[in-house]
Amino acid sequence: MLLSILFICSLFSTAHTKDVMLRDTCSHNNCLRAFLGSGPEAVAFCQTYTSGIAIPTFAANCHGDTAKVISACSCIYTAPTSSSSILITSASLASISVTTTTTTPTPCFCTAWSQISPAVAACMSITLDNIHAPASSAIILTKLKIGASVIFSGTTSFAFTNSSQFRPLQIAGSNVTIAGAPGSIIDGGGPQYWDGLGSNGGLPKPGQFMKVQITNNSIMRDLYIQNYPSHGINVAGVLNSTIQNIVMNNSLGDAPNNISKGLAAAHNTDAFDVGNSVNLLLQDCKVWNQDDCVVVSDSSNVTVRNMFCSGSHGLSIAGGGTGPGHNISNILFTDSIVTNSTNGLRIKTDYNATGGVVNVTYSNIQLSNIKTYGIDIQQDYLNGGPSGIASNGVEVANITVSNIKGWVVPEATDYYIFCGDGSCQDFTFYDVDVSGGTEGSSCNYPPSGCPGS
Ligand SMILES: *[C@@H]1O[C@H](CO)[C@@H](O)[C@H](O)[C@H]1NC(C)=O
Ligand SMILES: *[C@@H]1O[C@H](CO)[C@@H](O)[C@H](O)[C@H]1NC(C)=O
Ligand SMILES: *[C@@H]1O[C@H](CO)[C@@H](O)[C@H](O)[C@H]1NC(C)=O
Ligand SMILES: *[C@@H]1O[C@H](CO)[C@@H](O)[C@H](O)[C@H]1NC(C)=O
Ligand SMILES: *[C@@H]1O[C@H](CO)[C@@H](O)[C@H](O)[C@H]1NC(C)=O
Ligand SMILES: *[C@@H]1O[C@H](CO)[C@@H](O)[C@H](O)[C@H]1NC(C)=O
Ligand SMILES: *[C@@H]1O[C@H](CO)[C@@H](O)[C@H](O)[C@H]1NC(C)=O
Ligand SMILES: *[C@@H]1O[C@H](CO)[C@@H](O)[C@H](O)[C@H]1NC(C)=O
Ligand SMILES: *[C@@H]1O[C@H](CO)[C@@H](O)[C@H](O)[C@H]1NC(C)=O
Ligand SMILES: *[C@@H]1O[C@H](CO)[C@@H](O)[C@H](O)[C@H]1NC(C)=O
Ligand SMILES: *[C@@H]1O[C@H](CO)[C@@H](O)[C@H](O)[C@H]1NC(C)=O
Ligand SMILES: *[C@@H]1O[C@H](CO)[C@@H](O)[C@H](O)[C@H]1NC(C)=O
Repeated sequence: MLLSILFICSLFSTAHTKDVMLRDTCSHNNCLRAFLGSGPEAVAFCQTYTSGIAIPTFAANCHGDTAKVISACSCIYTAPTSSSSILITSASLASISVTTTTTTPTPCFCTAWSQISPAVAACMSITLDNIHAPASSAIILTKLKIGASVIFSGTTSFAFTNSSQFRPLQIAGSNVTIAGAPGSIIDGGGPQYWDGLGSNGGLPKPGQFMKVQITNNSIMRDLYIQNYPSHGINVAGVLNSTIQNIVMNNSLGDAPNNISKGLAAAHNTDAFDVGNSVNLLLQDCKVWNQDDCVVVSDSSNVTVRNMFCSGSHGLSIAGGGTGPGHNISNILFTDSIVTNSTNGLRIKTDYNATGGVVNVTYSNIQLSNIKTYGIDIQQDYLNGGPSGIASNGVEVANITVSNIKGWVVPEATDYYIFCGDGSCQDFTFYDVDVSGGTEGSSCNYPPSGCPGS
């Protein structure tokens, strides 16, 4: 395969010499220099590196910074020796020279969509650099090797795909690291789809922009995602893993466009739809969107911490479901800000649904500029909206709400709790003070009434 210009250098000329190719976009920090200076040892380390492994002494200059190590590893990679490749001795390592080559590299540094599948099959450290996915071509990272890492760098973009079944970005793996390089952007191409109707009609739109199913101490972090078409990240079956420092910026979709009939162009743009997950830590994220910021269903042991949510429908639990198995337990939402949103905190269950929502805590959350309900617990949802008739098939128990302060707009309601007959138990409110609404609060549980009353 004829490659474009690459920077080539080689490490020590031993019998086991391998070419090391260096991308011109790699950041030449002291960590990368240490790798370049350590020859085969660095290559061998990178071939088997998974985050958490002790960093060898040659890489002391990386100061234990996993991101730098992953970046350095993704910058150096081995290539089969080819007669046309130009070997540079260790003496000239410092002055990296430019040349052309006909070498076929191992495919860990991808600059084209077609290179992704072979990279996933072969590599432990994958970089996806400025990938533009053609129409109907998802970025599929579902068969990552155990312990693999994937770095998104530059801008990742997607051509228009006229299907609501299309899932642009799919990630699954055990003990994996998914990260964005500084300044990287994942762009969902939302303006090509937005028509004010979201997933309720109009143009077909990819129903979930990302599906993430990571397990065994995996981490997904440092992603900047903008302009996703409809629902954002489907956190589907994440086990014992962390998602952190994700920006979901759909604020471009707040303005109407020429086909949205005066509505915000983007709609149904949930940021994090968490389902079937156990032992998930979701933290340090910033969301500007037009639907739920976080909504948790069918999950247990989930902590959602240090979130900033603007434009959203708030921090939600969607409890229960049809048939057995819809239980939610041990959920903590804490240390967060919800602003300019329809709701602050919400637990909703469907009319006629069954299941449980047990041991949920909301603590240390500031609310401001809330448009409908400050704190909302409702058991009467039907077809996505309140029906006015609550049912009691979902037990909502051991709900703690503490240190929740803030304001709703005058047209809004501070507190609304509408439980089914006998299905709510053990609600505790401490230091709850939401005010500003002139639509009267209403709470049919606890018997003492709404907080503060
Ligand atoms: C996964 O990686 C972590 C370090 O990130 C390590 O401590 C752990 O043993 C690994 N677990 C499995 C099951 O591979
Ligand atoms: C998308 O597909 C629908 C049929 O599902 C078709 O009516 C429409 O014209 C297509 N739009 C574009 C932009 O290709
Ligand atoms: C976790 O890792 C262990 C060891 O690799 C593996 O046997 C197990 O299937 C993994 N569990 C999940 C849920 O990925
Ligand atoms: C999650 O980690 C705990 C130990 O921290 C382990 O007992 C459990 O099996 C893990 N669960 C899954 C689904 O990997
Ligand atoms: C979010 O996107 C809007 C519009 O694209 C942009 O103006 C704004 O600066 C972005 N915000 C952040 C925090 O990146
Ligand atoms: C709507 O605006 C887009 C660009 O934002 C333009 O390409 C398109 O032709 C416009 N459509 C109509 C019906 O005006
Ligand atoms: C959930 O957390 C509780 C309390 O920390 C713990 O006892 C339980 O084992 C966890 N459940 C799972 C499935 O890890
Ligand atoms: C509040 O959200 C609306 C869309 O719901 C948006 O147009 C407006 O710019 C946001 N205001 C602030 C202060 O973020
Ligand atoms: C209830 O959930 C909290 C997290 O908010 C957890 O620490 C606690 O262990 C859970 N209690 C039980 C009995 O599982
Ligand atoms: C609720 O469940 C009852 C009993 O199964 C059924 O008759 C009724 O049609 C259901 N109502 C709705 C709105 O689903
Ligand atoms: C689910 O919740 C219901 C209602 O609280 C409870 O009766 C049932 O035992 C729970 N099931 C599981 C598997 O936890
Ligand atoms: C009820 O919630 C409190 C506060 O999170 C927690 O300490 C306790 O363990 C929970 N009890 C049950 C039965 O879940």
